Amino acid sequence: MSGRIEVILADITTLDVDAIVNAANERMLGGGGVDGAIHRAAGPGLLEECRAHAEVLPGVRCPPGEARLTGGHLLRARWVVHTVGPVWTGGDAGEPQILASCYRSCIDLAVRAGARSIAFPAISTGVFGYPMDRAASIGAGQLVSGLARHPSVERLIACCFDAGTKALYDRLLQVMGQGGAFT
Ligand code: APR
Repeated sequence: MSGRIEVILADITTLDVDAIVNAANERMLGGGGVDGAIHRAAGPGLLEECRAHAEVLPGVRCPPGEARLTGGHLLRARWVVHTVGPVWTGGDAGEPQILASCYRSCIDLAVRAGARSIAFPAISTGVFGYPMDRAASIGAGQLVSGLARHPSVERLIACCFDAGTKALYDRLLQVMGQGGAFT
């Protein structure tokens, strides 16, 4: 295994990576939170490209747990991987499995496109209400297994929007034996 996991404190729209992940909704037509920030930074071409994705059900371009790829448009990132996290309703409605599937689907799709560096926000932890500690432990676990699954990946990045989230990810990855950058 030659890749590494990084935990950073940043606005994901500013990152110089191959792909950034968007915590979108099923319609894929923008929203608030990180979704709104990505659409603002990427410009209207991103919305156009999202709209062109086929609906798999009326109003659903991406079901929860799946991922869809677009270009990065005005972003530094070449691609945006849109995923739809679970809405937290207490944890007994498959939320952990859906959240894990988001990370897995995003990594697999981005790698298939050729990405070697992929940055993730903390999917579902804002508007969708997933408790940060539980979401981060799933996210960290999926970054570790994603790296093991894809030898071509150079960097998987947990892009944290606040210091508390970064400290949480740092601690979890340390416990998993993956603290800091490693080769
Ligand atoms: N960079 C990195 N992380 C960010 C940024 C940013 N620019 N902006 C917000 N975040 C963080 C939030 O702090 C939160 O921890 O992203 C995490 C996810 O929060 P949301 O963006 O609210 O995403 P989510 O909980 O998955 O809800 C998705 O929100 O805006 C809508 O269209 C979106 O309906 C969808 C829903």
